[in-house]
Amino acid sequence: MTVLNQPLPTPRAGIIIACMNQKGGVGKTTSAVNLCGEFAKHNLRVLLIDCDAQGNAATSLGISKRDLQSSTYEIIMGTHRISQAIQPTRRTNFDIIPASERLSGVQVELVDAEDRDYRLAKAIEPVRAHYDIIMLDCPPALGFVSVNALAAANTVLVPLQCEFLALEGIAQLKNIIDRVHGHLNPVLSILGVVMTMYDGRTNLAQQVVDEVRKYFPVHICNVPIPRSVRASEAPSYGQLLSEYDPEGRATVAYAHVAQELLSRLNIRGGNA
Ligand SMILES: Nc1ncnc2c1ncn2[C@@H]1O[C@H](COP(=O)(O)OP(=O)(O)O)[C@@H](O)[C@H]1O
Ligand SMILES: [Mg+2]
Repeated sequence: MTVLNQPLPTPRAGIIIACMNQKGGVGKTTSAVNLCGEFAKHNLRVLLIDCDAQGNAATSLGISKRDLQSSTYEIIMGTHRISQAIQPTRRTNFDIIPASERLSGVQVELVDAEDRDYRLAKAIEPVRAHYDIIMLDCPPALGFVSVNALAAANTVLVPLQCEFLALEGIAQLKNIIDRVHGHLNPVLSILGVVMTMYDGRTNLAQQVVDEVRKYFPVHICNVPIPRSVRASEAPSYGQLLSEYDPEGRATVAYAHVAQELLSRLNIRGGNA
């Protein structure tokens, strides 16, 4: 069975979602952060783990990374316990593990390590039951950290930017997901493909969505995330879209996508 028709994980504590696309700037961090915000509003306990050395997830939530002692790097290296690295985001039900620049060295430092592909999975295990959803915001690469994220996850969410050649590189991404599924993590499935930065005024955006729908008929999310200036401004204020622009089109679209993903996962949260 390939990962494309692998059944989704059954609802239980600690669904782990890898938010992944090896292209940079396609909306991984924006999607990971805002979907976590939506899940938390459904009364689900959420942990966002920043797996990108750029560390944009924490900054987007208004969390300073200055003097960061414990981060994703330390938990992958095994020098700190995961409980030391978890921080509150000052939002109900929503915690984060920020990333530091140190994470960029981890691939080299662990090159000969035993179980190198399962470092993140092992680090997460002690807190898995404390959360309903753990989101891994992946780096723009298919290297060591992304393989660790795929080995730790149950399921993958792929943000795709609505642009010419959106699907370029997708064969490579699918190939690595299939390899991890075959060799490291037999339960891995694909949760969804979320179309980002959709500009409804152009024919191109609709053509891209149609093309992606042909490729991922089951996985594409119904509602694309519109391109919005407010969406690009919110991180600089350290705010979620629902805080910065509560009625905005991108905010409403993320709420729809969150709802759709929860129903795919068969998770029923509390009040939205
Ligand atoms: N829907 C959107 N409309 C406009 N700008 C967006 C939207 N989503 C993301 N952006 C902006 O695009 C840039 C890349 O997004 P980001 O989520 O950081 O991508 P990635 O994590 O894949 O590198 C950021 O500046 C972000 O604010
Ligand atoms: Mg990012």
